Amino acid sequence: MISGDQTPNVFRLDGAQTTMVFTWTDGMPALLSHGPRLSAETDLLALAAALERPLPKGTLDVSEPVSLHPEAGRGFMGHPALIGRRPGDERSWAGRFTGTTIVEQPDGILFKLVDESRGLGLELDCRINPESDVATLKTRLSNQSDAPVIVDWLSPPVIAPDRRYGEFLSFHGRWSAEFAVERLPIPVGTTLRENRRGRTSHDAFPGIILLTSETGEEQGACLGCHLGWSGNHRLMLERLPDGDRQLQIGALLIGDEGTIQQGETIETPPLYVARSEDGLNALSQKFHAHVRTCLLAFPDPKMPRPVTVNTWEAIYFDHRHERLTALADAAASVGAERFVLDDGWFRGRRDDTSSLGDWYPDEETYPEGLGPIADYVHDKGMQFGLWVEPEMVSPNSDLYLNHPDWALSVDPYPMIIGRNQLVLDIARAEVSDFLYERLAELIGDHGVDYLKWDMNRDLTLPGGEGGAVAASRQVHALYALIDRLLSAFPSLEIESCASGGARVDYGILERTHRFWVSDSNDAVERLRIQRGFSHFFPPEIMGAHVGPTWSHTSGRGLSIGFRALAAMPGHFGIEADLTKMSDDDIEVLTEAIERHKADRDIWHQGRYSRLQTVDPGLTGVMAISSDQRHARLVMAQSDRPEASLPPRLRLPGLINDRPYRITLQYASENLDRANRHFDGALWTGGLTLSGEMLAAVGLCLPIFYAQTALAIAIDAAEA
Ligand code: DGJ
Repeated sequence: MISGDQTPNVFRLDGAQTTMVFTWTDGMPALLSHGPRLSAETDLLALAAALERPLPKGTLDVSEPVSLHPEAGRGFMGHPALIGRRPGDERSWAGRFTGTTIVEQPDGILFKLVDESRGLGLELDCRINPESDVATLKTRLSNQSDAPVIVDWLSPPVIAPDRRYGEFLSFHGRWSAEFAVERLPIPVGTTLRENRRGRTSHDAFPGIILLTSETGEEQGACLGCHLGWSGNHRLMLERLPDGDRQLQIGALLIGDEGTIQQGETIETPPLYVARSEDGLNALSQKFHAHVRTCLLAFPDPKMPRPVTVNTWEAIYFDHRHERLTALADAAASVGAERFVLDDGWFRGRRDDTSSLGDWYPDEETYPEGLGPIADYVHDKGMQFGLWVEPEMVSPNSDLYLNHPDWALSVDPYPMIIGRNQLVLDIARAEVSDFLYERLAELIGDHGVDYLKWDMNRDLTLPGGEGGAVAASRQVHALYALIDRLLSAFPSLEIESCASGGARVDYGILERTHRFWVSDSNDAVERLRIQRGFSHFFPPEIMGAHVGPTWSHTSGRGLSIGFRALAAMPGHFGIEADLTKMSDDDIEVLTEAIERHKADRDIWHQGRYSRLQTVDPGLTGVMAISSDQRHARLVMAQSDRPEASLPPRLRLPGLINDRPYRITLQYASENLDRANRHFDGALWTGGLTLSGEMLAAVGLCLPIFYAQTALAIAIDAAEA
């Protein structure tokens, strides 16, 4: 709801728990206050008067705040929101926009500005979702003159975080170690992180959370921002000498890819912003709600997330029919509901040195095409999924032989190979048409229910036709190709994978349904990766697989029970050779799948939170159903406990005066041996506690060995 009755210059936007107050002073809007929801009677004029700034000594005669679009032409001394120029016009680097119109729009407000002397129009588009409480901000710049403009940087509407946020969470990582979280103080000056990899990247997630020194999972203020974009980006947090802070996160433009001709407009990707006064879990729950209600589009929203068997770590490139059918038999018998044929099924693909682009079933391993295996899987009652990596071409492929010019390159520089592959210029119509036709035929002919869409290399020198830079175009072309496929096959689901989690963001999520979060199936590492991921993404889109006993990325060996519990909250899957598992492991796994199926509505629709104990090696996650009658939690001990006795576990979020029955669902192997003696009620049959006692007092857990875990069920006890 936008309203601003008391004055034409102060406006408010209200989410469920947030009010954003904008001023429109001297023609430039600013976000004056971004905090808890204010009452409808709030006097906005008085609010603006209360926040009027004094003028410090030794400065310009204006004290320019961090506006929605800070610019040097108004005396702003920090990094500007727009950097651009018009070739041949010597004055075009400078400028100053002035507001013309304010437009009310659904759940939002649109500020329109112009700079007549530069011939530029600017739109600052700010919305807040009334239910999720997440704001979506975008900037559009249009060229209204007859000469081109080169934009080097354009920020979405700029965030001016409150000064109480003295720290931030940085999200970084590397291959098979995504979503590492580091808590750092906000230093004076600029904290800059750039991603030039052409995909979202493992190492620079386009998101940040600002917080106070008191903020934890369950308490304190925090502000989270995430750019919905799957390409290059820049994240800039600036602490200015006057104490103000500004946060700009936008698409990083290289070469002249920000050029706009007469009449053209450039739009930033959406910046998603949420805040909480009640800790990091409450912030995550807002992002989860936004993903669930505004971004995710499951073809069948009522269908539970199917338990998935993926062939990769089971068979790699060994696609003999009898191996696959044996794996499909084993998959069906443990309760899998989807079977995904990973890399290795297409013409000539025996290892990762060849064949990307030749999207035809391999004639040797699949003499009758994919029909027999697709039918076999369907006949077992499972969905059939197929791995593809459409944006890529192997130099050793028929496609490259026939169309060497389709690969991105800049003549005369040598093309750098990554995993033996090059990148196709998918913004070219003939290339995207080719890919569309190949994929559409495969999906149509074999009733493919699901694609695992992989992308296994960074872009270097992404030159399109004539060498023109094509990095951003590539992302838009990817979105267009997926959109085209989804409109032709509306029941298709797609998993976004890029060497694990290098393409995890809200931009790709608007057209996909699951993330392959990491190539690490090591459950100890997974617990940490999944924890980082959960700050912005809910568990139902978190591909979480039970891998082999010995992880091929870390060399660590873990029990089946621990591996299964680490995967329990996510979109559960198995990526190990089921045909070689021991009977004991199959039994534990089958039970875990049954338990997951029984509980997945709670995990996937409930309020999900991270539990933290005083022992850094002991972490947990919990989901509470929307009616607060049921909760499920998994506690896992990654490292050896710090102390000989475990800490108490407090569980907030249930109804205070309701009794709940608490039962141990499952304890992983060896856990009982870690305790000389434990006959606590949790261990011996369960206990009944009120929601208040669970939150305020908590309960004592058994002693954990390193790499053991347990699952607990909490269900409303009938009065
Ligand atoms: C990288 C992915 O992340 C893996 O899960 C697997 O699909 C391989 N590619 C296949 O080449």
